[in-house]
Amino acid sequence: MSTTGSADQAGSARGIDSTLVENRLFPPRDAAESGFARWHVGSMAEYRALHRRSVEDPEGFWREEAARLNWFRPFTRVLEWSAPDAKWFTGGTLNACHNCVDRHVESGFGETVALVWEGEPVGGPWGAGPEVRRLTYRELMIETGRCANALRALGVTRGDVVTIYMPMVPELAVAVLACARLGAAHSVIFGGFAPHAIAERAADAGSRVIVTADGGYRRGEIVPLLANVDEGVRALANQGHVVNHVLVLDRVGASARGDAFRSGEARIGPTRYHWWRDAVGGASGACPCAEMDSEDMLFLLYTSGSTGKPKGILHTTGGYLAFVQMTARLTFNLAPDAGQLFWCSADVGWITGHSYVLYGPLMNRVTTLMYEGAPNFPRQDRFWDIIARHGVTQFYTAPTAIRTFMKWGDELPAGHDLSSLRLLGTVGEPINPEAWMWYHRHIGRERCPVVDTYWQTETGGHVVTPLPGAIGTKPGSCTLPMPGIDAAIVNERGEELPPNRGGLFVIRRPWPGMLRGVYGNRERFVSNYWGRVKDPATGAPFYFSADGARRDTDGYFWIQGRIDDVIKVSGHLLGTMEVESALVSHPAVAEAAVVGVPHDIKGSAIVAFVTLRPAWLAREGRAADDALKKELGAHVAREVGALARPEQVRFAEGLPKTRSGKIMRRLLRDVAAGVEKITQDTTTLEDFSVVARLRDDEE
Ligand code: PRX
Repeated sequence: MSTTGSADQAGSARGIDSTLVENRLFPPRDAAESGFARWHVGSMAEYRALHRRSVEDPEGFWREEAARLNWFRPFTRVLEWSAPDAKWFTGGTLNACHNCVDRHVESGFGETVALVWEGEPVGGPWGAGPEVRRLTYRELMIETGRCANALRALGVTRGDVVTIYMPMVPELAVAVLACARLGAAHSVIFGGFAPHAIAERAADAGSRVIVTADGGYRRGEIVPLLANVDEGVRALANQGHVVNHVLVLDRVGASARGDAFRSGEARIGPTRYHWWRDAVGGASGACPCAEMDSEDMLFLLYTSGSTGKPKGILHTTGGYLAFVQMTARLTFNLAPDAGQLFWCSADVGWITGHSYVLYGPLMNRVTTLMYEGAPNFPRQDRFWDIIARHGVTQFYTAPTAIRTFMKWGDELPAGHDLSSLRLLGTVGEPINPEAWMWYHRHIGRERCPVVDTYWQTETGGHVVTPLPGAIGTKPGSCTLPMPGIDAAIVNERGEELPPNRGGLFVIRRPWPGMLRGVYGNRERFVSNYWGRVKDPATGAPFYFSADGARRDTDGYFWIQGRIDDVIKVSGHLLGTMEVESALVSHPAVAEAAVVGVPHDIKGSAIVAFVTLRPAWLAREGRAADDALKKELGAHVAREVGALARPEQVRFAEGLPKTRSGKIMRRLLRDVAAGVEKITQDTTTLEDFSVVARLRDDEE
């Protein structure tokens, strides 16, 4: 098995026995050695007891965790479970923003800093250092109040879905929490996605209000967020979906440059645009938190699936909050009043940003750091500079970023004082042991535990992860299940497999952070997650994550990667179908198949096999050449987002298919990775006919 996060090598989990042997074990250390006063869970015995209790008495266990939240009305039942539908903490009412912000103000911690933010630009108008803003819990309460009142004035009410497409600025946190305050659901779209993606998601969610910014800074350039929203709004209007209002933060000075509009003006069709500074700035900061039922929707977050259409993963209020406050506390050893500054470098456009930039740290009354831009602006040591200047204590990032830092050189972190760090985390894809060791040595200086957290958009929070004071780590393993999580590796019949046999990663019982549905698509919810594996004893469905994995003889989990048609590029999920649909929407393309291949930095990279339309080529006077490959790459970036741009486009005369017409993806993966020799291979054209015939029986 490759250790570089090759989602696609797993192919199918059936019959995959891992050959990776990684014997290094890093036992947990004393809390003081890493700079903590104490561990929440301080020994393996304590972890085992906690986990055992959580499985033997789940209701008692979760009742205690949920009691850490602030409930307006206490819940009467912990769980109502009618597979695959769970209702957690029913009868209870609460508000997510209240739990993140107001209750800390009410209990006397209004002057504690909730959010430290650093903008990307440095120099020029920004002077010597970058722009830094600090918001106390009280300030955050007032800002979310203002924003909630502004959204209300735009007609947003309980149960609506507000689409948010913003750069990583404090107002993004404010907008998210303001939705929660009002009882509206937020649907955050990553700022790297293209207009088509905005339109598709806003339409699916039935969203009538979009919150955006005129632009955002990324690697010294301006990302044209507002222009993308405009294009999205136009596309929506053509489909008959009217966006009523767009709220626009003036982040990059578009208003100053004269392309201002008067707030309330219609800019596109009937859609009215409002500057943030008028609509939010002019609103009152006093806005009560809506009293929500535990099972009311908190947010939608769209994620790629194996069909072309992204899935709106639905999370509700009480369960998500209970799970995220617990996982954030236990995995990162978060504690209030302990001088902690927690930095998760993920964008709030992904689940990691939802759970561990915002909700997790804020519920735990810890200061969270948010950085707007790229790790290599203005230089490749920006992250280490941020850690040193602000005194970050816990740092959480992705393996793809770590591999990039390795490439940039050891001297960059060595040039900074990283002694404030107490703990390091990774997320998003399997981490190869080399990257783990580098992180441990060069960033953690062999002092900080490294927590490799395995989870998904759908799980809401960490499901397999080391608890830093209790569970010894092995580079490349996410170790053991979170308390409350009954995880197992099973075969297709649901039978648990012996050690070191590759199988399907399942969770056998409900947990509070689990998704409650795929928005507007019951069938997809049931078939994607609950339709594949059943409890062999009772026939009840298990939750299946679509990952292949194994456990070693110590019970440690080793995630092998996805077994469905999604590719993890730099830790971000992309559906092969999404990219294929984008390709065939180009007039030159007749057919396309996309696969992932192992990539040193990105984990996996996309290779696209494309068959062209000869008639189009003739008519346009074009050839199957590099210029066309480039054009197709740019087309995908425009349609889906830059992340989806194929690393390589290869032209083929026809795609290899089985007799039943299924594209032979495994063969394409082998070809793309250079494993399989193609009999007749020119640089521009691949002829699969011979191989396809040879392989026909195998698929
Ligand atoms: O394949 C697993 C991989 O990321 C997938 C979930 O992606 P997403 O919903 O975008 O959430 C990413 C952030 C939680 C999983 O199905 N994955 C995530 N974390 C790890 C991982 N694979 C191995 N090790 C991890 N720590």
